[in-house]
Amino acid sequence: MLSIPLQSADTISSIFAPVSTPALREADLARMVLVLSAVVFIVVAGLIGYSVVRFRVPTGDQGTEPPQVYGSAQVEAAWTVIPVIIVIVLMLATGRVIYEVQAAPQPPNAVEATVVGKQWWWEIRYPQLGVITANELHVPVSDSLTRRPTFLTLQSTDVAHSFWVPRVAGKTDLIPNKTNRMWIEPRVPGTYLGACAEYCGTQHTLMLLRIVAEPPEQFARWVEQQRQTAATPPSDPGAAAGRRIFLATICSSCHAVAGTTASSRYGPDLTHLMSRRTIGSGVAPNTRERLRAWIRNPHDLKHGVLMPAMAIDEKYLHQLVEYLFTLR
Ligand code: CUA
Repeated sequence: MLSIPLQSADTISSIFAPVSTPALREADLARMVLVLSAVVFIVVAGLIGYSVVRFRVPTGDQGTEPPQVYGSAQVEAAWTVIPVIIVIVLMLATGRVIYEVQAAPQPPNAVEATVVGKQWWWEIRYPQLGVITANELHVPVSDSLTRRPTFLTLQSTDVAHSFWVPRVAGKTDLIPNKTNRMWIEPRVPGTYLGACAEYCGTQHTLMLLRIVAEPPEQFARWVEQQRQTAATPPSDPGAAAGRRIFLATICSSCHAVAGTTASSRYGPDLTHLMSRRTIGSGVAPNTRERLRAWIRNPHDLKHGVLMPAMAIDEKYLHQLVEYLFTLR
């Protein structure tokens, strides 16, 4: 392992620090359930503790059994009615939050994105906006005046995965041959960390995910920039040589760069690779050095990944990375 996942270094990732509409409601519910359960635990454990101490057999006393109680209508009514009331309260509160989250209508101005789980990365498409990216989901934030949630269509091309960004929403599975839906609505700009939450093979733990929630203007700029193609070859001779290597070797049989002949969807789209903060679905920061290490042998950073090690001369590797660096 050359790197520590950025996850731990970055920021908190707790359901108790919600920033998005579904997560806010779910955190309230989780708190309520925890408080109720804590009260039940304290009362029951307290009564048991009290009885153990208060009614213990005094030392040295081999005495007879104390008088036994055989049935008490009041006590039995109490331990039946109180739990039933607690269960009904929990059921109603849970049902209400589930309904609010699952039955929320999609407003006409909502952003739509399709997230496809793959071993071990996330393909992200915005069909209406004509944008394809990977591992970093950009969405606009809502404020009190304008609500603009993002509705997600979740799919998988191989095994079951689960989309989970704790501060933004509860988890939803991505299942092969089934389409699931969820929605998110961040209200605070920021980068929120998540991960695949369903065991999906060797690199399940490094199938990391981030949501970048931006003010609407910034999101619009991001979309504009992501729609550009990379048709024009770079002017720098090294990078131009790297582009030729990219298009002539097996790079282009898995990766797409819009505006070139590379159009395969097997691996992540690289048209705007440098606009992403990380590589390998969050395993390493997106720097020259790490890109070089990744191309040389991705298995050093993420063992078992489908991308093969490129047996490539250092000089060509350098040019290839110079080319990737122009993909902004
Ligand atoms: Cu994908 Cu675990």
